[in-house]
Amino acid sequence: MAIGDMAEERYALHYPQEALEINWNNTSKEKIQELFKIWAGNYDRWVLEGSANGAPGCYSHLSCGEAFFNAAKDLYGESKKDLKILDCGCGSGLSGQVLKDKYGYDNLTGLDVSEDMLDIARQRKIYKTIISAFVGTDRVKEIQDGEYDAVISSGVFQTGLVRAKALDEITRWIKPGGIMCFTCPVFDKEESGYKEKCESLEKEGKWTLVSNKEAEYYGDQIPKGRGYKTCRMLVYKKL
Ligand SMILES: C[S@@+](CC[C@H](N)C(=O)[O-])C[C@H]1O[C@@H](n2cnc3c(N)ncnc32)[C@H](O)[C@@H]1O
Repeated sequence: MAIGDMAEERYALHYPQEALEINWNNTSKEKIQELFKIWAGNYDRWVLEGSANGAPGCYSHLSCGEAFFNAAKDLYGESKKDLKILDCGCGSGLSGQVLKDKYGYDNLTGLDVSEDMLDIARQRKIYKTIISAFVGTDRVKEIQDGEYDAVISSGVFQTGLVRAKALDEITRWIKPGGIMCFTCPVFDKEESGYKEKCESLEKEGKWTLVSNKEAEYYGDQIPKGRGYKTCRMLVYKKL
C-alpha cells in the first residue's frame, strides 16, 4: 500500500464520517453529543498523531494557546498567570492542557456539551471547574455576567457546532476589558454567519478586534470535504 493510502486509512480511522456530515441544516445539541460520543475514544489520537508520519492531525489547540498567550501578555503582562479563563468547548482538555503546561495558566474552567469528552477532560485534572452545557442562545445559568477574564475556544467555531448567534451569550461571560480568543476555519463562509456576527458586535460597541491572523488548523492529512489547512485566529476585547 502506498504511504499516501496508509495515511488516508489511518486518518479515516480517527476522523469519523459523522464529523464530515454535520452541517448547519442538520445540527442539534443531540447530534453534537452523538458525534463526540463516537469520537471521544480516539479524539486525542487524531489530534496528536493524526498522520502516518506522526505529525498532529490538528493544530487548533496549539494555535489558540499561542494566540491567547500573546494577547494576554500584551493586555495583562506575561507574569499574570491567575487569569480566570473559560475553555469553551474544552472537549477532552487538549486546549486547556496547552494553556497550563506550555503557558502556565492554571485558573481554568472547562465547558462542553459532550459528557463523553468531559469524562476525559476530568481525568486530566487541569480544570478547577467543569460546566456541562450547550452553547447556543440560552443563558448558561452556571456563568455570571463578566465572570471571566478570558474565553478561549479551539476547534469549536466550526460547521454545525456553535452558531454565530451564541456569541451574544459568550460575550456576556467576559468582563469588560477581557478577551475572547478562538479559531475559526469558516469565518468567511457566508452560511456560518460568523464574520457578519463578529462585525455587528463591533458596530454595537460590544467588543473590538485585537487581531485576525492566519494560523495552522488541520495537519497534512486533511479530511476530504472539510479541508482547512489554516483558520482565522481571532482575538477580540470586550468593551
Ligand atoms: C473539535 S472539539 C475541540 C476540543 C478542544 N477545544 C480542542 O481544541 O481539542 C469540539 C468540542 O466542542 C464541543 N461543542 C461543539 N458544539 C458545542 C456547543 N454548541 N456547546 C457546547 N459544546 C460544544 C464538542 O462537544 C467538542 O468537545
